[in-house]
Amino acid sequence: MTRRVVLGVSGGIAAYKSCEVLRRLTESGHQVRVIPTESALKFVGAATFEALSGQPVRTEVFADVAEVPHVRVGQRAELVLVAPATADLLARAAHGRADDLLTATLLTVSCPVMLVPAMHTEMWEHPATRDNVALLRSRGVVVVEPASGRLTGADSGPGRLPEPAEIVELASLLLERADALPRDLVGCRVVVSAGGTREPLDPVRFLGNRSSGRQGYAVARVAAQRGAEVALVAAHTDGVVVPAGVRLVGVDTARQLHEAMLGESEQADVVVMAAAVADFRPATMEESKIKKTSTAAPTVRLLTNPDILVDLVARRRPGQLVVGFAAETGDAAGGVLDHARAKLSRKGCDLLVANAVGDGKAFGQPNNAGWLLAADGAEIELPLGSKVLLASRLWDEVAARRIKPPFSFRDRP
Ligand code: CTP
Repeated sequence: MTRRVVLGVSGGIAAYKSCEVLRRLTESGHQVRVIPTESALKFVGAATFEALSGQPVRTEVFADVAEVPHVRVGQRAELVLVAPATADLLARAAHGRADDLLTATLLTVSCPVMLVPAMHTEMWEHPATRDNVALLRSRGVVVVEPASGRLTGADSGPGRLPEPAEIVELASLLLERADALPRDLVGCRVVVSAGGTREPLDPVRFLGNRSSGRQGYAVARVAAQRGAEVALVAAHTDGVVVPAGVRLVGVDTARQLHEAMLGESEQADVVVMAAAVADFRPATMEESKIKKTSTAAPTVRLLTNPDILVDLVARRRPGQLVVGFAAETGDAAGGVLDHARAKLSRKGCDLLVANAVGDGKAFGQPNNAGWLLAADGAEIELPLGSKVLLASRLWDEVAARRIKPPFSFRDRP
């Protein structure tokens, strides 16, 4: 569906990535009006934004005065996204300045506003910036957690602009659901598993599954943007954009995933098992490639892997909430929901997200649908939508359950 988006661009080196954000938004069918600041135009020319958006580009309120652009553009917008948002832009937005078309527009809008900061770590961590971010968030503005990594020059640390694909995924989430990213997980320590384990047969072959890791990454992404401290334990998630603001722990096999999850969950408030774990592994791993030496095909003896979710539930610390996923196809014994209900009680977790899989559904797809079942009896239908939308519904339920006594998040800003 076509939506009207304002893309604000302020003057940092990451401004060049706004072209990719713009391209992805227009390719999704949205009508995008770009409003750069004067400094942004030192990095990217107005002609580039005009060509990519197909719309005129202005920076100041004194152009096209008869059209009153500083009010009109904002009034029509369904989302204002500023990427990158520099420290200066955050300061001007926080204090209601209106000294150019972008900041004037920010004062006129009633739609969701998402600011994507990009700056050096020192500037991001400066008390002035922290206060500006807190002020903006207290007014309901979504200020995205930046990524950590290479900055301009040789520096590295938090302050990097998240990948354009991630920015557009979060922007699309806000277009689907304006209240999808509240800061209700601040102080909450979360561990999420994602991807699919591989069980080696020999140095080149393995038993694996079709999980891409996208749903688990979406769960981690939304948790981080809602303020949680997130560890993401990932098995074979190549090509999926690592969420900004999470700590990534890479694993290969079910046994490695088991060990990592038990370790990470010791301090966690919420544990989410979204990974597709191989239930069985070859009893032996051949040290060299299995050869076709005889006409008879080899027989592979399998051993059962530990059920990680069951172990996590058994070791659950007081107040910890454990969430499982269920990939179901339905069969002669029952439908997706019947199998999911049985799995929830068999595994003993607090919440279970049940997805219908097979026929090209869920695995590797951008969208997902299913049911959210809770041990307290709640059954919530999750209509077909993006994986981040499903993740935001899941975190709504977690947050609703976590704030009830005896649970409480540690009091951290
Ligand atoms: N799971 C796990 N360890 C395993 C297998 C699964 O922790 N060895 C977790 C998955 O991460 C998921 C949940 O258990 O959160 C359900 O996984 P699923 O593959 O749907 O179910 P299985 O336990 O494998 O049961 P079945 O094959 O009978 O459907």
